[in-house]
Amino acid sequence: MERKILFPKVDGFVHGGDYNPDQWLDRPDILAKDIELFKEAHINCVTLGVFSWASYELHEGQFTFKWLTDIMDNLYENGIYTILATPTGARPAWLDKKYEECRRVDSFGRREYHKERHNYCMSSEVFREKAAIIDTKLAEAVKGHPGLILWHISNELGGYCYCDKCTNKFHKWLEKKYTTIDNLNHEWWTTFWAKKFESFDQIDPPYENGEVAIKGLLIDWKRFQTENATDFMVHEINTVKKITPGIPFTTNMMMYFGDYDYRVLAKELDVISWDGYPRFHNDYESLFDTMASEGFTHATMRSLIKGKPFMLMESTPSLPNWHLINKLKKPGVHNLVSLQAVATGSDTVQYFQLRKSRGSAEQFHGAVIDHNGTNETRVYKEVKQLGANLLELKDVIGSLVDAKVAILYDWDNRWALDTTEAFVKLDKKYEETLYDFYNELTKLGVDVDIISRDYDFSDYKVIYTPMTLIVTSELAEKLKKFVSEGGTVVSTYMMGYTNENQLAHLGGFPGEGLTEVFGILNEEIDTLWPTQSNHLVFEDGSTVEIKDYCEIVHLKTAKALATYTEDFYKGCPVITVNNYGKGKAYYFAARFKNRDVEDLHKQILEEAEVSYKNLPLDVECHTRVGESTFEFYLNDSNEEKVVEEVYGTNLLNKQTVNGKLLLSGYEVAVIKK
Ligand code: GLA
Ligand code: ZN
Repeated sequence: MERKILFPKVDGFVHGGDYNPDQWLDRPDILAKDIELFKEAHINCVTLGVFSWASYELHEGQFTFKWLTDIMDNLYENGIYTILATPTGARPAWLDKKYEECRRVDSFGRREYHKERHNYCMSSEVFREKAAIIDTKLAEAVKGHPGLILWHISNELGGYCYCDKCTNKFHKWLEKKYTTIDNLNHEWWTTFWAKKFESFDQIDPPYENGEVAIKGLLIDWKRFQTENATDFMVHEINTVKKITPGIPFTTNMMMYFGDYDYRVLAKELDVISWDGYPRFHNDYESLFDTMASEGFTHATMRSLIKGKPFMLMESTPSLPNWHLINKLKKPGVHNLVSLQAVATGSDTVQYFQLRKSRGSAEQFHGAVIDHNGTNETRVYKEVKQLGANLLELKDVIGSLVDAKVAILYDWDNRWALDTTEAFVKLDKKYEETLYDFYNELTKLGVDVDIISRDYDFSDYKVIYTPMTLIVTSELAEKLKKFVSEGGTVVSTYMMGYTNENQLAHLGGFPGEGLTEVFGILNEEIDTLWPTQSNHLVFEDGSTVEIKDYCEIVHLKTAKALATYTEDFYKGCPVITVNNYGKGKAYYFAARFKNRDVEDLHKQILEEAEVSYKNLPLDVECHTRVGESTFEFYLNDSNEEKVVEEVYGTNLLNKQTVNGKLLLSGYEVAVIKK
């Protein structure tokens, strides 16, 4: 496959991270030492200015960028490139004090005080104007700088503003979507509970102490907020693009983040980047499970722009400071998790942050250089080792993950599951379910893309669609075509209950004619209390525990592969398969661990001609394809493992592997075929 190089100027993987030198302008000794330490750790890129607005414009209209360009010059002379952020993530006090409309209104309708960061109103004309001014001045100051390789737009865009300006924009957005208030009343089903509106301007945003009964309102609010945030981001992109043409841009995204549909933002970006902070060594799951959830997000990010590597923009070199419990990564795990990002398609390993902040919110958050300022720490040494490892992997840069299997994950489906009043009140376990499917496929060494209903399904052989409550007519048509042409779809309980505005499908679930594809009709769903369970039994008599959800489905043309063993629906089908056209449609009517039906998953993959691996427990394998094929084997445990049937050269120790690959605890091997 052709390699896709993100940063042609940089010789190697981008290795670096957030660096906030404006804290140390009165300490040239520290700034000089930092550069020495960066070079020693093979750090070749820093992200500057993420929160530097007040360092550029302490007084309104008075700008200084000399400190920045001096530092960029110095870094560049030392072989270190710059990713430059637009500084809108945090605002100077003068701005918030003078122009109150820049501050967000919260979900109870209260204007926030000047505080913290990320909390600006994206509809405020004043804020947009002030952002354009600072972005323009900044871009002019660095224009043509040879060290600049990427724009980092704002920081971790997120959250909602409930001010009048945002509300007015929401009304216009609704009018554009529905044209008439009658259409809206129909799609929001407002006749129920006397919710009918006479006009768009009667509609409040869904305040926390306001309207939450109308599901269409809740989901449209999130769609509107996504578009408003995207529009704000594009405003910033357009501002800097004019001045520095040719410099690509990104914005840093977050793990399983629910505020916005990232696929809408992704359409406007050159490259996807995200910030990963897994909860390592916790007391509720194995390291493999933690890694698999991280892998799920890597795959989600990679799939946002297919055909290009993505960037791990932030990660902590040791521990974060904002988790409930902040646990250190054990020795070796930094290398493991960083190379997992590379294995799944990242061409960067970057940190928050390079030097610890002396005070304020993140003074004890992990950093490459600690308060003691030396190269003697365990964390620094592990970062340096990782930097050296990345140098050995240069051939991997620009290669891609070529997944033949995908999991469907739509943001609005998640929103619908969050707000639907049914099944279980609190957590319906969508996230857990998605991870569970990904986890099992990772255990089988199968790379998986995470896609939405807009994607081209013909790239895949098997598509898993867990808990897909929302099925639009377009999605149903695509699934019909996919299966009839030979694809395999594996769906679960809750499939196709509603349309995109959360109106229930009439005429039987799964709706939109999917009953034909699956060959079943779903009549009822039973939700179990946490301590309750049911079981399924396969034809060979083996049983598997069922938790949480049991759908009662009737066979039309499908065949039952397993049935319930308990309750009044004992004997009813739980796992079914239906031949449809040239393909197959499997249905899991209940919730069970995918690990418990591993043989079935292997069978599904075999039938679909997707190869899988027999890996030892707790070993992951991912494959990147470029001019050569690279297999990454990751030992997500502290025990020695032996992987069979591995052939090639391990780029990290130059040894030839001829069959048996020995991995010590947390070791990673990168096999060039
Ligand atoms: C986020 C932010 C960073 C920093 C880190 C700390 O990812 O983008 O500025 O606060 O969290 O983990
Ligand atoms: Zn607002």
